[in-house]
Amino acid sequence: MTESIAREGVAAQTPSAAQTPNKEALLSVTGLQKHFPITKGLLKRQVAAVKAVDGIDFEVYKGETLGLVGESGCGKSTTGRLITRLAEPTAGKITFDGSDITHLKTGAMRPFRRDMQMIFQDPFSSLNPRHTVGAIVGAPFHIQGVKTEHGVKRAVQDLLKLVGLNPEHYNRYPHEFSGGQRQRIGIARTLALKPKLIVADEPVSALDVSIQAQVVNLLEDLQEELGLTYVVIAHDLSVVRHISDRVAVMYLGKIVEVADRESLYANPRHPYTVALMSAVPVPNPRRRESNQRERVLLTGDVPSPIDPPSGCRFRTRCWKAQEICATTEPPLVVREGDSPDHATACHFPVADNEEVAGRGQAA
Ligand SMILES: Nc1ncnc2c1ncn2[C@@H]1O[C@H](COP(=O)(O)OP(=O)(O)OP(=O)(O)O)[C@@H](O)[C@H]1O
Ligand code: SF4
Ligand SMILES: [Mg+2]
Repeated sequence: MTESIAREGVAAQTPSAAQTPNKEALLSVTGLQKHFPITKGLLKRQVAAVKAVDGIDFEVYKGETLGLVGESGCGKSTTGRLITRLAEPTAGKITFDGSDITHLKTGAMRPFRRDMQMIFQDPFSSLNPRHTVGAIVGAPFHIQGVKTEHGVKRAVQDLLKLVGLNPEHYNRYPHEFSGGQRQRIGIARTLALKPKLIVADEPVSALDVSIQAQVVNLLEDLQEELGLTYVVIAHDLSVVRHISDRVAVMYLGKIVEVADRESLYANPRHPYTVALMSAVPVPNPRRRESNQRERVLLTGDVPSPIDPPSGCRFRTRCWKAQEICATTEPPLVVREGDSPDHATACHFPVADNEEVAGRGQAA
């Protein structure tokens, strides 16, 4: 086999190209904001706001998986709730499948509700313990008034089969299932109305490590079989590494870096992304001595989203910060030499082979 054929063979193993052949956006978000007001006194006068999501732009292409990653409180779940319209945006625009859904009221949203579903972290609290599995998975049919060809029971049993559960267990209750099985029940319910987009908010973080891979594999199989588009939310980059075609990294209500998986993991540009990657001890791909593991510890707490730092929000924890970082917010742009899918919001992005463990941050 020639070298070029061998290289093509390697490239063919990555799912991104196959899953996003023409990069048509299913969801497109511009300037999206969610500010939660903080009120005071009897008159509930607004005195401040939690800037949970503070002006983000991104697209989700048909058939792809976009990973959304960042530390606790950076606005991931709020973003998920905004794009599925479980929360009302403060500003910005959300376009889903060509329609502006930013401020649709309940009635006008109903047809879109079927197309976009959310899977939640906790398979214990998200299922009603007093309802049978049949009632839980069949509920969306009743709520949306959807007719099924062979009746709801048969449709539910087909869904149970699809997610790897025994269809005979239709009459059992959630407590009779393990954590992984309950997450499968939640996924079956999500699939009932054949959604186009699924936002999975930390879908495996409440599960045993041994079960996590099974649920991730199930999500991947379902994506292939049903042509689904996913946004998968996680705390750390390792969880979304294998499932994502592209990854967006959030910090304090902003997207600081977004890239196709290969570029992001091989050449992280934003210091925060580098720090997040180093939070788990993995070999740094840019270090010549590949067996050397380094950790850039994220020191200090995330600042308050009520009063975020001026300029670049990461500057209070960044080892590369300079004066301009305090005065000018860096735009999210594609750097020269980076892949066209790779955008970074930083005045001094990390270069290839740059030593990043300096300034006393290395462990
Ligand atoms: N309903 C609300 N009212 C006021 N503040 C809120 C509300 N929901 C979220 N927040 C705040 O908005 C910020 C972002 O929260 P969000 O839940 O989106 O973060 P997250 O990235 O999902 O965090 P985690 O990883 O812990 O789930 C946090 O500071 C949170 O306290
Ligand atoms: S803009 Fe400045 S403070 Fe922000 S990440 Fe880049 S170097 Fe660090
Ligand atoms: Mg969350």
